[in-house]
Amino acid sequence: MARTKTLFRCSECGGESPRWLGRCPGCDAWNTLVEELAEPAARARATVSRTGTAPLPIDQVPADEWVATPTGIAELDRVLGGGLVPGSVTLLGGEPGIGKSTLLLQAAAARAAAGDRVLYVSAEESRQQVRLRAGRLGTLHPDLWLVAETSLPVVLADLATTEPALVVVDSVQALADPQLSSAPGSVAQVRHVAAQLVAEAKQRGVAVVLVGHVTKDGSLAGPRVLEHVVDTVCTFEGERHHALRLLRAVKHRFGPTHELGLFQMSDQGLLGVPDPSGLFLSDRRRGVPGSVVVPTLDGHRPLLVEIQALVTGSDLGNPRRSAQGVDGGRLNMVLAVLEERAGISVARSDVYALAAGGLRVTEPGADLALALAVVTAATDTPLADGVVVCAELGLGGELRQVSRLDRRLAEAARLGFATALVAPDGPEAPSGLRTVPAATLAEAVRHCHGGALGRPLRAV
Ligand code: TYD
Ligand code: MG
Repeated sequence: MARTKTLFRCSECGGESPRWLGRCPGCDAWNTLVEELAEPAARARATVSRTGTAPLPIDQVPADEWVATPTGIAELDRVLGGGLVPGSVTLLGGEPGIGKSTLLLQAAAARAAAGDRVLYVSAEESRQQVRLRAGRLGTLHPDLWLVAETSLPVVLADLATTEPALVVVDSVQALADPQLSSAPGSVAQVRHVAAQLVAEAKQRGVAVVLVGHVTKDGSLAGPRVLEHVVDTVCTFEGERHHALRLLRAVKHRFGPTHELGLFQMSDQGLLGVPDPSGLFLSDRRRGVPGSVVVPTLDGHRPLLVEIQALVTGSDLGNPRRSAQGVDGGRLNMVLAVLEERAGISVARSDVYALAAGGLRVTEPGADLALALAVVTAATDTPLADGVVVCAELGLGGELRQVSRLDRRLAEAARLGFATALVAPDGPEAPSGLRTVPAATLAEAVRHCHGGALGRPLRAV
């Protein structure tokens, strides 16, 4: 078969070259030439055909043109703002092994069970591997169709014959168009494959989900190059040694972004976590020094997280500072403010701080919790039971309000917490919960040690 003509275009200046060159002859930029098909552009110039509808006054454009179809996986639908929109393209990015294939196989089967035909294109694993996994997950369904294929034109032909409502392409880096000489996974291939699938999605009204691997060494063209091509970008993350997985929409044309979905990887695949605060606090021991609960906010979702600290004497000239799941820079800042503004020094101690449960808590709203975890650990006196702590710490030792405190406090009240230590001038406390304001870190420390929070309890 004669190969269609391709050319190399500079991603900086747009200049063309018939061959790949390390340096663009137009603008002298290095490594900017990316292969593309020569023909489509010429054809596009020759014919003018409308891909959408004619111009309309904005108030006459139907508002309900995009109606999302639920995937049937509640935590995924939460992040997508209801589900997948027909004709839309969603990119699911994440490190290899995090659970992208598992999540999409479950979502594909749930859609099939709801009566829609789904095509799962496996470009990485064989049909047998995917079928075995589907059997293990209990997701075998006659409306879930499967093809193991790496050639883009074949996949496009399969789309025409099977006419699915949803297509999952696993992964976009493993699919390639043989017309391009660039290797699968290269920027040229990944862009071309995605552009073709986007065009197909719009034309057929089929929802497309692309899996995109994110690797740290950058050996595969990462999902970054596709972000502007697709409608929605979701990221799937988690700590390797924890079962917890976090799903986020970082770009979404059909709904809000920064909504958080939570899953746990189990023997039955990914299970949604509808009550994360309850989960994070389930194995917490009460009345232990160095343990403080903070109501954090991730997206629109309040999460109660336990911050732990351990302070031990150190022989080191430069004592150890260890932060897991909390920001190391913020820990250092908190320790400096504790010393300078509250007179509590841990300069000769090793300090370990972590967020329990495999979460990452980096927001400033956790500053006071981090500080009090260190204080209660250093003084070996636990915080009174049923207390949450939430305020940002300034360098002058002043405490500041955090965003959406009402939501955070409502979640704390729901889980049975009775007292919240917060910055002054906050919102009204929800029923069942009392707020104790503190203007400074020193005042907050006094509250903990026999002040408004009552006599500290020993382990209960
Ligand atoms: P996978 O979905 O293949 O990851 P990705 O597509 O992002 O590369 O998931 C891989 C991991 O998930 C693998 O280490 C095994 C684990 N896993 C389970 O723990 N339970 C299960 O039911 C399944 C299917 C996978
Ligand atoms: Mg996979």
